[in-house]
Amino acid sequence: MKSKNLKFPFTWEHRKPHLDDRMLYVPKFYDKHDLWSPLPWNDPEMFGNDNDLCIEFCSGNGAWILEKAKAHPLKNWVAVEKRFDRATKIWARMKNTSITNVLVVCGEAEPFADHYVQEDTFSEIYINFPDPWPKDRHAKNRIFRQPFIKRVSEIAKKDAKATFVTDDEVYSLQMIEEMSKSGAWESTLPGTQYVTDWPQYGSSYFDELWRAKGKTIRYMQFSNTKATK
Ligand SMILES: C[S@@+](CC[C@H](N)C(=O)[O-])C[C@H]1O[C@@H](n2cnc3c(N)ncnc32)[C@H](O)[C@@H]1O
Repeated sequence: MKSKNLKFPFTWEHRKPHLDDRMLYVPKFYDKHDLWSPLPWNDPEMFGNDNDLCIEFCSGNGAWILEKAKAHPLKNWVAVEKRFDRATKIWARMKNTSITNVLVVCGEAEPFADHYVQEDTFSEIYINFPDPWPKDRHAKNRIFRQPFIKRVSEIAKKDAKATFVTDDEVYSLQMIEEMSKSGAWESTLPGTQYVTDWPQYGSSYFDELWRAKGKTIRYMQFSNTKATK
């Protein structure tokens, strides 16, 4: 199975959500999300069972989530990646390693969370090395913005854990500030609210890249209180 063999399933004019063989496509610049309702996770086209659900947003080539899925076969894993070329890599690796507890979502995190997921769904949420968009004029591109943080609290179960990893010191402080501002999340880590070592957390393409460059990695974890300010 080669990732390049997977073709995009619709043209720009005919774009619509499309689920096929454990890949869900959520089109960009689409204004009809409300016409679609999420399939139940226990549908055979999805996972076919009611196991706990974990989600990683911004999965890149999927190295981290595929390892987790292999290590925890009794949990279901959802990998959300907006770039088609990267989503196809996750899908091809998943197929080639016969992993059956992963669904790949090729689409942007925000519309997927807003329109394709019901409330109180996920037990674990992860974002590993999100793009920091350091310039102020690019801040609108950051995933850590209030509407998304609040929506993640809604689609997560109460007391669900959200774990974030970054090499970027400034972005880690922004994440902590935004999570606290939402009123929906409480850090599980005392003091600075981050640690620089998390044994057995797992690794990803960007984890290896930044470690090779000598960067310090920061891990943060928050528990879902469900309250909002
Ligand atoms: C720096 S990479 C990290 C990839 C991977 N998590 C890793 O650690 O190797 C960030 C990834 O997030 C994806 N991404 C950025 N914004 C996104 C969004 N709003 N929804 C889904 N994916 C997004 C990018 O396409 C890119 O693959």
